[in-house]
Amino acid sequence: MIRKMTAEDLPQVMAVENESFPDSPWPQKEFLYELNENPFAILSVYEEDGRILGYIDLWIMYDQAQIANIAVASEARQRGIGQQLMNDAVRRSIENECEFLSLEVRVSNTPARSLYEKNGFIQAAVRKQYYENGEDAYLMIKPVGGLNNDSIACD
Ligand SMILES: CC(C)(COP(=O)(O)OP(=O)(O)OC[C@H]1O[C@@H](n2cnc3c(N)ncnc32)[C@H](O)[C@@H]1OP(=O)(O)O)[C@@H](O)C(=O)NCCC(=O)NCCS
Repeated sequence: MIRKMTAEDLPQVMAVENESFPDSPWPQKEFLYELNENPFAILSVYEEDGRILGYIDLWIMYDQAQIANIAVASEARQRGIGQQLMNDAVRRSIENECEFLSLEVRVSNTPARSLYEKNGFIQAAVRKQYYENGEDAYLMIKPVGGLNNDSIACD
Protein backbone atom coordinates (compact mmCIF):
# COMPACT_ATOMS: atom_id res chain seq x y z
CA MET A 1 0.00 0.00 0.00
CA ILE A 2 1.25 3.46 -0.85
CA ARG A 3 0.37 6.13 1.68
CA LYS A 4 1.55 9.53 2.88
CA MET A 5 4.84 9.53 4.85
CA THR A 6 4.74 10.79 8.43
CA ALA A 7 7.50 11.66 10.91
CA GLU A 8 6.80 8.34 12.71
CA ASP A 9 8.00 6.52 9.60
CA LEU A 10 11.43 8.14 9.69
CA PRO A 11 13.35 5.43 11.62
CA GLN A 12 12.40 2.86 8.96
CA VAL A 13 12.83 5.35 6.11
CA MET A 14 16.31 6.22 7.35
CA ALA A 15 17.27 2.53 7.44
CA VAL A 16 16.32 2.19 3.76
CA GLU A 17 18.00 5.50 2.89
CA ASN A 18 21.28 4.52 4.59
CA GLU A 19 21.51 1.15 2.87
CA SER A 20 20.43 2.58 -0.50
CA PHE A 21 22.83 5.52 -0.59
CA PRO A 22 25.77 4.49 1.62
CA ASP A 23 28.05 7.24 0.26
CA SER A 24 25.65 10.16 0.51
CA PRO A 25 22.45 9.39 2.45
CA TRP A 26 20.10 12.23 3.26
CA PRO A 27 20.31 12.97 6.98
CA GLN A 28 17.06 12.73 8.92
CA LYS A 29 16.85 16.52 9.11
CA GLU A 30 16.55 16.59 5.31
CA PHE A 31 13.48 14.35 5.48
CA LEU A 32 12.06 16.50 8.27
CA TYR A 33 12.56 19.59 6.12
CA GLU A 34 10.81 17.89 3.22
CA LEU A 35 7.93 16.75 5.46
CA ASN A 36 7.43 19.95 7.41
CA GLU A 37 8.78 22.87 5.42
CA ASN A 38 9.12 22.20 1.71
CA PRO A 39 5.79 23.35 0.25
CA PHE A 40 6.46 21.50 -3.01
CA ALA A 41 7.25 18.09 -1.53
CA ILE A 42 4.91 15.10 -1.48
CA LEU A 43 6.42 12.19 0.44
CA SER A 44 4.93 8.72 0.18
CA VAL A 45 5.87 5.32 1.54
CA TYR A 46 5.19 1.79 0.37
CA GLU A 47 4.06 -0.17 3.41
CA GLU A 48 3.53 -3.91 3.70
CA ASP A 49 2.50 -5.64 6.94
CA GLY A 50 3.49 -2.54 8.91
CA ARG A 51 6.96 -2.35 7.36
CA ILE A 52 8.21 0.49 5.19
CA LEU A 53 9.73 -1.10 2.09
CA GLY A 54 10.15 1.98 -0.05
CA TYR A 55 9.49 5.68 -0.39
CA ILE A 56 9.44 8.52 -2.84
CA ASP A 57 9.84 12.27 -2.50
CA LEU A 58 8.07 14.04 -5.36
CA TRP A 59 8.23 17.78 -5.88
CA ILE A 60 5.34 19.39 -7.70
CA MET A 61 6.55 22.86 -8.65
CA TYR A 62 3.83 24.55 -10.69
CA ASP A 63 4.19 23.04 -14.18
CA GLN A 64 7.25 20.93 -13.33
CA ALA A 65 7.50 17.77 -11.27
CA GLN A 66 10.71 16.25 -9.98
CA ILE A 67 11.57 13.03 -8.20
CA ALA A 68 13.95 14.18 -5.47
CA ASN A 69 14.39 10.75 -3.89
CA ILE A 70 13.21 7.19 -4.43
CA ALA A 71 14.43 3.98 -2.84
CA VAL A 72 13.30 0.46 -2.07
CA ALA A 73 14.66 -1.72 0.76
CA SER A 74 17.33 -4.07 -0.60
CA GLU A 75 15.44 -7.20 0.45
CA ALA A 76 12.29 -6.02 -1.36
CA ARG A 77 13.82 -4.97 -4.69
CA GLN A 78 12.82 -6.40 -8.06
CA ARG A 79 9.31 -7.10 -6.83
CA GLY A 80 7.67 -4.16 -8.58
CA ILE A 81 7.65 -1.71 -5.65
CA GLY A 82 9.82 0.87 -7.42
CA GLN A 83 7.47 0.68 -10.38
CA GLN A 84 4.44 1.26 -8.13
CA LEU A 85 6.11 4.31 -6.58
CA MET A 86 6.90 5.58 -10.08
CA ASN A 87 3.28 5.01 -11.17
CA ASP A 88 2.14 7.10 -8.21
CA ALA A 89 4.55 9.94 -9.15
CA VAL A 90 3.40 9.92 -12.78
CA ARG A 91 -0.26 9.95 -11.74
CA ARG A 92 0.27 12.90 -9.41
CA SER A 93 2.24 14.77 -12.08
CA ILE A 94 -0.61 14.32 -14.56
CA GLU A 95 -3.25 15.28 -11.97
CA ASN A 96 -1.30 18.48 -11.26
CA GLU A 97 -1.12 19.25 -14.99
CA CYS A 98 2.69 19.25 -15.06
CA GLU A 99 4.48 19.41 -18.38
CA PHE A 100 7.47 17.30 -17.34
CA LEU A 101 8.60 14.87 -14.67
CA SER A 102 12.37 14.98 -14.19
CA LEU A 103 15.13 13.55 -12.01
CA GLU A 104 18.87 13.20 -11.76
CA VAL A 105 20.53 9.79 -11.66
CA ARG A 106 24.11 8.59 -11.35
CA VAL A 107 25.53 7.45 -14.65
CA SER A 108 26.57 4.18 -12.94
CA ASN A 109 23.11 3.44 -11.45
CA THR A 110 21.98 0.77 -13.89
CA PRO A 111 18.86 -0.43 -11.99
CA ALA A 112 17.49 3.10 -11.60
CA ARG A 113 18.30 4.13 -15.17
CA SER A 114 16.56 0.99 -16.40
CA LEU A 115 13.47 1.83 -14.33
CA TYR A 116 13.38 5.35 -15.74
CA GLU A 117 13.97 4.33 -19.36
CA LYS A 118 11.25 1.70 -19.06
CA ASN A 119 8.91 4.50 -17.94
CA GLY A 120 9.64 6.76 -20.89
CA PHE A 121 12.29 9.05 -19.43
CA ILE A 122 14.90 10.33 -21.89
CA GLN A 123 18.39 11.64 -21.17
CA ALA A 124 18.11 15.39 -21.53
CA ALA A 125 21.52 16.52 -20.27
CA VAL A 126 24.67 15.46 -18.44
CA ARG A 127 25.42 17.24 -15.19
CA LYS A 128 29.20 17.02 -14.92
CA GLN A 129 30.64 15.97 -11.55
CA TYR A 130 27.23 16.33 -9.97
CA TYR A 131 27.97 14.04 -7.02
CA GLU A 132 30.47 14.44 -4.20
CA ASN A 133 32.71 11.66 -5.56
CA GLY A 134 32.91 13.47 -8.92
CA GLU A 135 30.48 11.19 -10.75
CA ASP A 136 28.29 12.68 -13.48
CA ALA A 137 24.50 12.63 -13.39
CA TYR A 138 22.04 12.32 -16.21
CA LEU A 139 19.14 14.71 -16.12
CA MET A 140 16.24 12.55 -17.27
CA ILE A 141 12.89 13.93 -18.34
CA LYS A 142 9.51 12.44 -19.09
CA PRO A 143 6.82 14.55 -20.75
CA VAL A 144 3.56 14.02 -18.86
CA GLY A 145 1.07 16.11 -20.76
CA GLY A 146 0.58 19.50 -19.16
CA LEU A 147 -2.61 21.44 -19.49
CA ASN A 148 -3.27 20.28 -23.05
CA ASN A 149 -4.90 23.57 -23.90
CA ASP A 150 -3.87 26.97 -25.19
CA SER A 151 -2.03 28.86 -22.49
CA ILE A 152 -1.82 32.62 -22.37
CA ALA A 153 1.77 33.74 -22.89
CA CYS A 154 3.36 36.99 -21.76
CA ASP A 155 5.61 38.66 -24.28
C1 LIG B 1 16.03 1.79 -8.42
C2 LIG B 1 15.12 1.07 -7.43
C3 LIG B 1 14.23 2.10 -6.72
C4 LIG B 1 14.19 0.11 -8.22
O1 LIG B 1 13.25 -0.43 -7.32
P1 LIG B 1 12.66 -1.92 -7.50
O2 LIG B 1 11.51 -2.05 -6.57
O3 LIG B 1 13.75 -2.93 -7.37
O4 LIG B 1 12.17 -1.87 -9.02
P2 LIG B 1 11.03 -2.79 -9.68
O5 LIG B 1 11.06 -4.17 -9.11
O6 LIG B 1 9.74 -2.08 -9.65
O7 LIG B 1 11.57 -2.88 -11.18
C5 LIG B 1 11.09 -1.97 -12.19
C6 LIG B 1 12.15 -1.87 -13.28
O8 LIG B 1 13.36 -1.32 -12.75
C7 LIG B 1 14.47 -1.88 -13.45
N1 LIG B 1 15.30 -2.61 -12.50
C8 LIG B 1 15.06 -2.85 -11.20
N2 LIG B 1 16.09 -3.52 -10.64
C9 LIG B 1 17.00 -3.71 -11.61
C10 LIG B 1 18.28 -4.31 -11.65
N3 LIG B 1 18.85 -4.86 -10.56
N4 LIG B 1 18.96 -4.31 -12.82
C11 LIG B 1 18.44 -3.74 -13.92
N5 LIG B 1 17.20 -3.15 -13.95
C12 LIG B 1 16.51 -3.14 -12.81
C13 LIG B 1 13.89 -2.79 -14.51
O9 LIG B 1 13.66 -2.03 -15.68
C14 LIG B 1 12.57 -3.18 -13.89
O10 LIG B 1 11.64 -3.59 -14.84
P3 LIG B 1 11.51 -5.19 -15.18
O11 LIG B 1 11.16 -5.85 -13.87
O12 LIG B 1 10.41 -5.26 -16.17
O13 LIG B 1 12.84 -5.61 -15.67
C15 LIG B 1 15.94 0.23 -6.41
O14 LIG B 1 16.89 -0.54 -7.12
C16 LIG B 1 16.67 1.06 -5.36
O15 LIG B 1 16.10 1.42 -4.33
N6 LIG B 1 17.95 1.34 -5.58
C17 LIG B 1 18.77 2.10 -4.60
C18 LIG B 1 18.34 3.53 -4.50
C19 LIG B 1 18.43 4.24 -5.83
O16 LIG B 1 19.37 4.03 -6.60
N7 LIG B 1 17.44 5.09 -6.12
C20 LIG B 1 17.41 5.86 -7.35
C21 LIG B 1 18.25 7.09 -7.24
S1 LIG B 1 18.18 8.08 -8.73
